[in-house]
Parts: sequence; C-alpha cells; structure tokens
Amino acid sequence: MTDKTLQIKQEFLENLKGVKDIAGLETVKVQYLGKNGVITALMKDMKSLDAEKKKQFGQIVNELKTEVSNAVTDKFEELKKAAVEAEINLMEDFDVSTPANLERGSYHPITLVQRECEKIFKSMGFTVEDYSEIVTDYECFESLNIPKHHPARDMQDTYYLENGQLLKTQTSAAQNAIYRKYKDALINEGKPIKAIFPGRCFRNEATDACHENTFFQMEGVMVDKNISISNLIFFMKTMLSEVFRKDIKVRLRPGFFPFVEPGFELDISCLICGGDGCPSCKHSGWLELCPCGMIHPEVLKAGGIDPEEYTGFAFGLGLTRLAMMKYGVKDIRDLNSGNLKSLSQFTDDE
Ligand code: DAH
Repeated sequence: MTDKTLQIKQEFLENLKGVKDIAGLETVKVQYLGKNGVITALMKDMKSLDAEKKKQFGQIVNELKTEVSNAVTDKFEELKKAAVEAEINLMEDFDVSTPANLERGSYHPITLVQRECEKIFKSMGFTVEDYSEIVTDYECFESLNIPKHHPARDMQDTYYLENGQLLKTQTSAAQNAIYRKYKDALINEGKPIKAIFPGRCFRNEATDACHENTFFQMEGVMVDKNISISNLIFFMKTMLSEVFRKDIKVRLRPGFFPFVEPGFELDISCLICGGDGCPSCKHSGWLELCPCGMIHPEVLKAGGIDPEEYTGFAFGLGLTRLAMMKYGVKDIRDLNSGNLKSLSQFTDDE
C-alpha cells in the first residue's frame, strides 16, 4: 500500500470504530465507496498516471476497496445482530420459576398462537390448509417468481434432498397449490380464494437467540376481483387486534419480495407503549411484524389465474416470532428445546 492508501485505510478503520448504528454505517460507506467517496476519487486520480504505474496503483486501490467493503459488510451483520438481540432483551420476560403443569399436559406456545390465528381467520371466512414439509423447487421458488440462480434464493439457505426436492423454506411454497385448488370455484362460481396455511419451515441458519433452523410461519392469501391494499390492512389489523387482545394500529413500509408487487413490511403499534414511544420500540412507537404485499401477476398466472381480471394479497406471518412476542420468550431455541418445565407454563383460555 502507498502512504496515501494506508492513511485512508487507517482513517476508515477509525471512523468504522465510531459507528453505532446502521444509519451511521451508511454515512461512512458513502463517504468511502460512494460516487463522490474517497476511494472513488482515488480511482479518478489514476487517469493521469502512465500505464505501468496505473496498473500497480490500480491493484492497490482495488485491494483497499475490497477491504473496505468487506469491513462494511461485517459491521452491518454485527449491527443487525446487536439490534435484534437488544430488541429481544427488552421484551417482557417469562418466569422460568413458574411451576410446570406436567400432569395435565399442555399445548406448545406455537400451537397456541397458531390455533388462535386459525380461529380468527376462520371467523373471517378463510379456510385453513395443510401442506407438506417436503416440496419441489417449483413450489418453493419458481412458481413464486424466483427463477433458478435468482439472487433472492441466497436469502434462504436451503436444505436440498438427494432427489432434488427440498425442505420448504417458507410457507409461500403452498401458494401455487392453493391457487390451483380453488381457481375453478373462483372463476366459475365467483368464490374468492381466502386461505391460510400455517407450517414448519427450514433454513440452514447458524442458531442463536433469534435464529433457528426450524421455525413456523403462517401464510395467508386472498384473491378476488378488486382486492386492494385496503383489504390487506383491514384483515391484518383485525387479526392482530384479536391476537393481542387490544386495538392494534398497523402501518406499511416498502419491502422487496419477488412474489409480491408492491411488497411491504407491516409494522404494528408498540405493544408496550401503544405507539407513544418507549425503549421496547426504540422510541419509534412501531414494531416490525409481518411481510406482505399484492400478489405478483406472474405468481397468479403460474396458479392458473388471470391477473388482468383478479388481484390479491399475501402475507407471511412469523408464527414463531409472534409466539415469542406474545409470551415474552427471549431465546428462540427454548421453543424447540423440549424443555417441558418452561414450555408447559403457557396455557390458553380454552
Ligand atoms: N415467504 C417470505 C419469507 O419467508 C415472507 C413473505 C413475504 C410472505 C411477503 C408473503 C409475502 O406472503 O407477501 O421470507
């Protein structure tokens, strides 16, 4: 490295040390790697050098650039992890010393939350679907507008079986089968498709307090003529207010998922402060809960439904996360632990 690039590297590392959150990291990233950033300026400087020097200097600058962007990526992961851990630590805790109810037996907290959601959605006219845990690549990805080699696949480190099938990484994998099952009733009899499908999902995750390789989601879809984002907001708001037994406000932020367009992240008003702002919601008044969106025309087409005539919404509720929020479970691994002493203390009114 030259004196100048060494100096830049040291200054960058100093700056990186001072970064406390993702917004701060973005500023440093732009400062070094942005269009008018320090490293980009070095590249521009190279123009005036002769061919041999240009080659040497080019190599040095490229090395620097790689080091800086790797350091930014590492820091991003570190900050993200710290943010999730902080959120979990702020949740209301459950009392591990509560006597276990071993004699009577009890439902698992995820079963409780799942059944509660099912009851609410059934009362709103949704069917509850059952689906396999082993699915095809077409079901889990291709029918959802995620072709082979699409970068969106990287987000879901998948367990493939020797026969080419896979353990489903998301309950969205059932969407195609649901559309096919109900499309004739939709088209011929005008019956809207309203279905939820809870299920176990698998991803190759390094486990920690907030990541597990096995977790539960609940997918929901509604397809009919003239379905809009307002329908989505209405159903989510009603369901969540029932689950948490209080009036929940919801808001949508843009989010990207290949099978919906537009896609959103749905936030709910903070359960602790009701939206005024408190440490649990980092004073924003909101908690991120559920990705959702308007079903992509290609996905409807793959399900045999004409997107010119019908529209719909879909959501993927993290049941595991919902159970953690509802019961104040701070470590996701407790849910798969088989530790009856802690698992059996959650009972429902039923
Ligand atoms: N399947 C997505 C995941 O596991 C979650 C999701 C996002 C489901 C948007 C949806 C949706 O139905 O509309 O990451």
